[in-house]
Amino acid sequence: MSTTYKVGIVGAGNMGSGIAQKMAQEKLNVVMVDTKEEFVERGMNAIRQTLQEAVERKIFTPEQVDEIVGRVKGTTDLNELKDADMVVEAIFEDVQVKGELFAKLDKICEPKTIFSTNTSSFYVASIAKFTERPDRFVGTHYFFHPAKNRLVEVISHEGTSDETVEKVLQIANMHGKTPIVVKDSPGFAVNRIFIPWYVEAIRVIEEGKANVATVNEATKHAFGIGLGLFDLWNMSGGTVIGLHASKSLGEELGSFYAPPELLRHQVEDLNSDFAIEGEVDKSKFDYIGQRLYAVAIGVACAQVDEGVASLEDVDRGTKIGLAWRQGPFELANSMGIDKAYQLVKELTERSDFKMPKLLEEQKKKGVPFEFNYVDLEVVGDIAYITVNRPEAMNALNPVVMNQLSAKFTEAENNSAVKAIAIKGKGKAFIAGADIKFFVDNIKNNNVDKTYDFTKFGQELLLKIEQSPKLTIAVVDGLSLGGGSEVALSCQAIVATPQGSFGFPETNIGIFPGLGGMFRIERHLGVELAKYYIFVGEGISAEQAYELGIVTRLVERAEVDQAIKDLAAKGKFDKYAAREIPDAYKAKKELMAGDNADKLLRGEKPSGVDDELAEKTLKRLSRKAPIALKMANELIEAQSKVSVEEAIKLELDRLHDIFATKDALAGLQSPGRPPQYKGE
Ligand SMILES: NC(=O)c1ccc[n+]([C@@H]2O[C@H](COP(=O)([O-])OP(=O)(O)OC[C@H]3O[C@@H](n4cnc5c(N)ncnc54)[C@H](O)[C@@H]3O)[C@@H](O)[C@H]2O)c1
Repeated sequence: MSTTYKVGIVGAGNMGSGIAQKMAQEKLNVVMVDTKEEFVERGMNAIRQTLQEAVERKIFTPEQVDEIVGRVKGTTDLNELKDADMVVEAIFEDVQVKGELFAKLDKICEPKTIFSTNTSSFYVASIAKFTERPDRFVGTHYFFHPAKNRLVEVISHEGTSDETVEKVLQIANMHGKTPIVVKDSPGFAVNRIFIPWYVEAIRVIEEGKANVATVNEATKHAFGIGLGLFDLWNMSGGTVIGLHASKSLGEELGSFYAPPELLRHQVEDLNSDFAIEGEVDKSKFDYIGQRLYAVAIGVACAQVDEGVASLEDVDRGTKIGLAWRQGPFELANSMGIDKAYQLVKELTERSDFKMPKLLEEQKKKGVPFEFNYVDLEVVGDIAYITVNRPEAMNALNPVVMNQLSAKFTEAENNSAVKAIAIKGKGKAFIAGADIKFFVDNIKNNNVDKTYDFTKFGQELLLKIEQSPKLTIAVVDGLSLGGGSEVALSCQAIVATPQGSFGFPETNIGIFPGLGGMFRIERHLGVELAKYYIFVGEGISAEQAYELGIVTRLVERAEVDQAIKDLAAKGKFDKYAAREIPDAYKAKKELMAGDNADKLLRGEKPSGVDDELAEKTLKRLSRKAPIALKMANELIEAQSKVSVEEAIKLELDRLHDIFATKDALAGLQSPGRPPQYKGE
């Protein structure tokens, strides 16, 4: 079974070595090529050094580092890339040098090999044309530091085939990236915003409206970034790159994007970056913020008008690539469309920037931008529904739930569809629900909203469970809470070894509210349901397979085939009786009879695995007692009634649990559970 891909990286510099590192971390086999041994060695050392820092921060052990480095083969011989699945080029930014390299690779590599360039400033098509395989040629634009920044822009030029884009997206996901698909266009998606944002900041200074330190500080406030605009630019190439990039954007797109005189002066006369100096004048923050919001929102709308990227991907690009707290469209929604329109209008009055159609229309409609977080694609007789909100690990909220429901209904009503597969985009399947939504509802005395959301979710999950079409969850990453509950509601689960399940709810003061308790109980019985719900212990895909929760456990490359096989086989009883493997018997006994009640009272039951009992008591002592008690009662009660009644029982306790002080305390510090008071 072929389980991983071989990827070649050409250029072992800042970007190449970082890309190679990240791929090796995520278990891809990498061959890294440079022109001289010393450059290869420098790249390998850069990888070792970054990983050493990760060891110091306890992210990796020294053994893991050896394993990762062992997956990168350094060489000066391009022939080693002959059988690679993909080759990523990260050499000097020179179109001729890149083109010549690809012409060579075109002769060396097998037809299956996909080529990609990490160019920042050239059209991908202008490099693809050096090869005989423009259909298997894309841009993959990574962001510094490529082992840490999750964003990659996948640029398909006019000749790129759909299969190529699919495979590149798959490889991007495999090495933990959040890919956004972008049209082959100047600055792609992120630099098209990042560069004029910098240029506008320089204009503010040039006009004498504020000094560098004030602008730098203002951007931290306005965009929620840890490093200010000039901190960032000074770290990533500074004025030299800024001048070059704004010149080329200006030539293609108009003088609004072109460098101001002050930037030219800074590079050509002073040969220096902007020193972050001067008194910070907070009274100017609003003004500066508005100038820069106008650029972000205006350019983002222009990009959507031009088909450069979707509105969701533009937001994603700035949030993941540039670490903005909100993307341009979210910013526009937050300030209101009228205000956003007004700011961009002022921008059109002081520059040659044209009012984008999208914003004009949105202003006429007078409603916020709507985001699409759930995609539906029908291939043959299978509908693929993808929750596409990777920046929030696909967390559920009312918008996502509504869209999931709409897409599910559409798939279910399509007579050509036999099976419906539900997946998550990026590294997670669905990591729970938006906790902020719950907190806001408690604080605003609006728990009815949480109730409505949960009821709607319960109804949808029941539809998924009882659909006449086979429903399949594809758990190829983390699933937690509501995400695990969506997976459990499906009639079948295909998981990869990267998949996992878990119920952390009692840790944050609540109980699982989307049917997870009774669905686990129907699979494993009351005792193990209590164990996993109380303890919140993660269940790996392998364990879930042993326990009969996962239907098929396959490697990533085999997921599609597994879905097709299940669809062809048709329906089966997912709750069929099963033998619980011996390895789980101690956990089962631990919760048997009145043991669970004893444990919840802090007493150690007798006749059970002593060590496990001690450990469980310790874990339970950190959880919210009321949530545990309600979960205990619910699991018992739900085990005795129909699914429909079980749902009702769960909903009936929802107001009670959200009324506890522990729920508010727990939901407000999800990473670090508070000391629960049992009230
Ligand atoms: N640095 C960034 O922040 C950033 C961000 C996105 C994209 N990029 C792009 O990534 C590419 C690489 O940038 P970098 O910052 O890593 O550059 P770099 O100068 O650090 O590294 C380039 C490496 O390529 C090697 N090289 C040059 N010609 C080669 C050839 N023909 N065959 C094999 N190796 C060759 C060089 O020896 C060097 O080690 C550029 O196209 C750049 O525009 C850079």
